[in-house]
Amino acid sequence: MAHPFATASEDAHQLRRVAKAASERAYVPYSRFHVGAALRFPDGDVVTGCNVENASYGLTICAERAALVRAIAEGRDTAEIDLIAVHVDGADGQPCGMCRQVIAELAPNAMIAFVSGGEYVSCTAEEILPHAFSPGALQA
Ligand code: THU
Repeated sequence: MAHPFATASEDAHQLRRVAKAASERAYVPYSRFHVGAALRFPDGDVVTGCNVENASYGLTICAERAALVRAIAEGRDTAEIDLIAVHVDGADGQPCGMCRQVIAELAPNAMIAFVSGGEYVSCTAEEILPHAFSPGALQA
């Protein structure tokens, strides 16, 4: 199916290689579907994550959220992240709805690159989850 996304930048392709290396560490005994994510900060630092499954399937942690949680634990300001690269081996690996919501809150300024329809594409956090539920809603 046609998608509305732009072709990913050369930077995104390079960061994807780091995400691919992270995907090789995924704990995926149930799906065997390896996912890796790499978050790039303006100082050039990169924080990675992989998906971690559980016999209680609903407890599975996606690669994108694993990377973001790791960055927070490392004391990083995730609002600075300017690029997120997601790697899957297959033709489609778009971030799931739960990860889109977490990206909207923790990395709203990032471009997100992922595989869609066999192509490596990218878009903004707002484009991947328009009108996200936001922390501002809790201020009322
Ligand atoms: N998965 C991710 O890591 N990120 C996504 O955005 C979509 C799905 C993982 C979860 C599960 O371990 C496997 O892919 C199959 O759903």
